[in-house]
Amino acid sequence: MTATFQMDGKEITVEDGKTLLDAAREHGINIPTICFHEATTANALCRICVVEVEGMRVLQPACIVQAANNMKVQTRSEKVIRARKTILEMLASTMDLSEASDIQAMLTEYQADVNRFPDAERREVPVKDDNPMYVRDYSKCLLCWRCVQVCAEDAQYTYAINFEGRGYETRIGTFFDRSIPETTCVLCGQCVGVCPTGALKPKREFLLEQGISPQEISVLNTGRKKRRT
Ligand code: SF4
Ligand code: FES
Repeated sequence: MTATFQMDGKEITVEDGKTLLDAAREHGINIPTICFHEATTANALCRICVVEVEGMRVLQPACIVQAANNMKVQTRSEKVIRARKTILEMLASTMDLSEASDIQAMLTEYQADVNRFPDAERREVPVKDDNPMYVRDYSKCLLCWRCVQVCAEDAQYTYAINFEGRGYETRIGTFFDRSIPETTCVLCGQCVGVCPTGALKPKREFLLEQGISPQEISVLNTGRKKRRT
């Protein structure tokens, strides 16, 4: 079974069950994504992928909405561009995007005004450095949930990290805010691999950025100097 519909005026046919994002990617149409990752279950959290579907009152997240016969979809209408721009401006006003290169490229593409919400409260929390593998800088976290998902059913089944708090206070954390070594974390690094913003970073990279030399890092790691060869 297939679904045939229009996207940006082009007739497209895809297998049943494909999302609008799948369809766009199969046909070379660019829809931006932030929370979506091929390795994780799509949850439509960030809404940057919204598109306009004729007959639907509100914009639809392309990463979860399935293509259906006779749909008419606009991926770059004025309404869509305005929504994406506003989402980017809200992100830029509330968190540190300095290491989120893909999102920075979107800020330029959508001509987002990073100072649009000057009174927004920024997420500013100290870096958590509590294990030998990675550091957690939640000032850079946009709550995309990818790390939580790979730590759970999407990959590792370790459940070391999860959401904490509600509403504005929502953040990623560990059970009872325990340090990583006190959790079920097995230091697999999958969460670091899927983080889109640099909020999770390999410890070595973090130390190099702090000006610590590779030799000093070896000493920190092994507790003794490396022998010269
Ligand atoms: S730490 Fe990274 S992967 Fe996890 S929710 Fe925040 S931005 Fe997403
Ligand atoms: S990429 Fe679709 S909602 Fe985030």
